[in-house]
Amino acid sequence: MTNHFSTQAVHAGEDKRKPYGALTNPIFQTSTYTFENTDEILDFMRKKAAKSPQLRDEYGRYSNPTQSVVERKLAVLDRGERALLFASGMCAITTTLLALLTPGDHLVMTRGCYRRTQEFALSFLSRWGVETTLVSIGEPDGLSEAIRPNTRVIFAETPTNPYLRVPDLPHMVALAKQQGIITVVDSTFATPINLRPIEYGVDLVIHSATKYLAGHNDLLAGVVIGSRELLTRIEELRGLLGGVAGPHDAYLLLRGLKTLELRVNRQNENGMRVASFLEQHPAVSRVYYPGLPSHPDHEVARRLMSGFGGVVSFEINGDLEKTGRFIDRLRLPYIGPTLGGVESIVQQQAIFISLDPRERREAGIADNLVRYALGIENAEDLIADLEQALAGI
Ligand SMILES: Cc1ncc(COP(=O)(O)O)c(C=O)c1O
Repeated sequence: MTNHFSTQAVHAGEDKRKPYGALTNPIFQTSTYTFENTDEILDFMRKKAAKSPQLRDEYGRYSNPTQSVVERKLAVLDRGERALLFASGMCAITTTLLALLTPGDHLVMTRGCYRRTQEFALSFLSRWGVETTLVSIGEPDGLSEAIRPNTRVIFAETPTNPYLRVPDLPHMVALAKQQGIITVVDSTFATPINLRPIEYGVDLVIHSATKYLAGHNDLLAGVVIGSRELLTRIEELRGLLGGVAGPHDAYLLLRGLKTLELRVNRQNENGMRVASFLEQHPAVSRVYYPGLPSHPDHEVARRLMSGFGGVVSFEINGDLEKTGRFIDRLRLPYIGPTLGGVESIVQQQAIFISLDPRERREAGIADNLVRYALGIENAEDLIADLEQALAGI
């Protein structure tokens, strides 16, 4: 019997009987694990050499019991064999790509990935002999034309930020499988509630757990989920580079995950209602939301996703200054650069990118673009707030 998401979010990966009969998982706030005597070390070393699944903890850079519970839960939620937790989403992305690629390899990346992910590929991996080709989402031949004999990885993000493009994962997987290429999808904006890339054949799923998975804007973490075989390669490099999440952050993430489905369902509902409201408002010139038929990837999103997420991007009738005034008039959301938590957060992306208009144009972000990451507040209150802010500009 397979449990539903809410049940898995609460129970998966956890022992029913915890130390001291505690209901919640203890935070093992320790950097290391000691041995009783030499025999115990020898026993540990034998099990390690045999790759025994019952291996005890040794040192905090390799594993921690609080972290392991979160990893087991995330593997179940995203339908992978295993999960590995990292200190941040970027740490999960960079460690994964470094583990999979060697000099002379070629990486294909879909356009619109998180700008730091693109920067890592284009400015850092290039120095280590890995070339990257960017391909546009929604151009059917773009991907097959970009693939070369030395392509080892296709990296995509879904939905992208801020235009919420949704790549056709089954198409991507079919091309990759023909040529033995590993597919990696950053599914931060989708969450396992709305989309599970592994069900479409994707090899590895990454999340910035800082966002929806943790859900309360109080920690940084990242996760990669997939097969045991691939994760063993990544785990070795994680142990070497050292980007692990601390036990306390692992606990907060575990607690946040318990309400994942409740939060994401509310954020999906808020996303749809706010996007529909904005689309009919005369002061708004364009809305980007994959749940709307006007979005270029609406058909793909409907095919792959069970909900369209809590981020709505839109352009208002106005310039950089007018858009800033609109944001300043909003009373409910915080202004800031993250998303996925219980509080709504709004951002004029152009200002965060650069004060230089030329650099903003190059980044493809319009001055009047607003990214609204909806929290779990009441949709009517959020819409009333938007209405008063739009009326005043
Ligand atoms: C889609 C996406 N992936 C990865 C990251 C990086 O995650 P973190 O900030 O946890 O390092 C972000 C962060 O903004 C993101 O939006």
